[in-house]
Amino acid sequence: MGAKVVFFTFAYHTQFIMVRLSVNINKVATLRNSRGGNVPDLIQVAFDAERFGAQGITVHPRPDERHVRYSDVYALKKVVGTEFNIEGYPSTDFMKMVIEVKPDQVTLVPDPPNALTSNAGWDAKKNFSFLEEVIKEFTKHNIRTSVFMETELAQIEWAAKTGANRIELYTEEYATHYKVNREKAIEPYVKAAAKAKECSLGLNAGHDLSLENLKYFSEQIPNLQEVSIGHALIADALYLGLENTIQLYLRQLRHGS
Ligand code: PXP
Repeated sequence: MGAKVVFFTFAYHTQFIMVRLSVNINKVATLRNSRGGNVPDLIQVAFDAERFGAQGITVHPRPDERHVRYSDVYALKKVVGTEFNIEGYPSTDFMKMVIEVKPDQVTLVPDPPNALTSNAGWDAKKNFSFLEEVIKEFTKHNIRTSVFMETELAQIEWAAKTGANRIELYTEEYATHYKVNREKAIEPYVKAAAKAKECSLGLNAGHDLSLENLKYFSEQIPNLQEVSIGHALIADALYLGLENTIQLYLRQLRHGS
């Protein structure tokens, strides 16, 4: 009986503080594509990442398919048993694919087709009608929507009006300034997170998060629900191995209990 109470208290508390780690496997696809063939095997990596503790798998298929291909996304849907998150610009082709695959979450990014990586959040005010329409479509298909945003508070209010379930805060600025002054670097993110909460938006974050800066970010943002991490995590795995690396990232997210 006592043990049961302890377990439920622990489970409740853990759930309350848990930030999900979604591993972005685009870099694995980039490595595979550099040689043709199927090494490394993207599907196996996704499967193993989950086995090693990842609580989600993220992919960002770009129109030129230079990383993850549309065909990978369909194949991954069959094996991902945690949370499947597809990121991308909502073109007609992208929307068709996402609706067919039906992931748990779609993260909308405003990237132009040949962008090296995502380098800005949405101007949700300027793109309001477009985002509202796209989000309505995904919502109709029971796919959770998240929009990639910077920290400007008025923009977050516009994002909330689109009907999105969550925002994903673009953390490149935080990562850049973390090394100089982490208290100052986190400030706009704390305010943005509070605004998201006030607008009843869920909260994700991503871009340039790493073993160095992740713990502080997640400690300072109490309503953070999920981080998606690719570049630094895959780079760390070269030295530390994928299992060890995922465990280390998870450890950065475990605090406050
Ligand atoms: N979130 C979004 C919207 C992205 O485009 C990316 C990069 O594909 C990430 C998160 C992950 O960024 P990183 O590879 O720097 O961890």
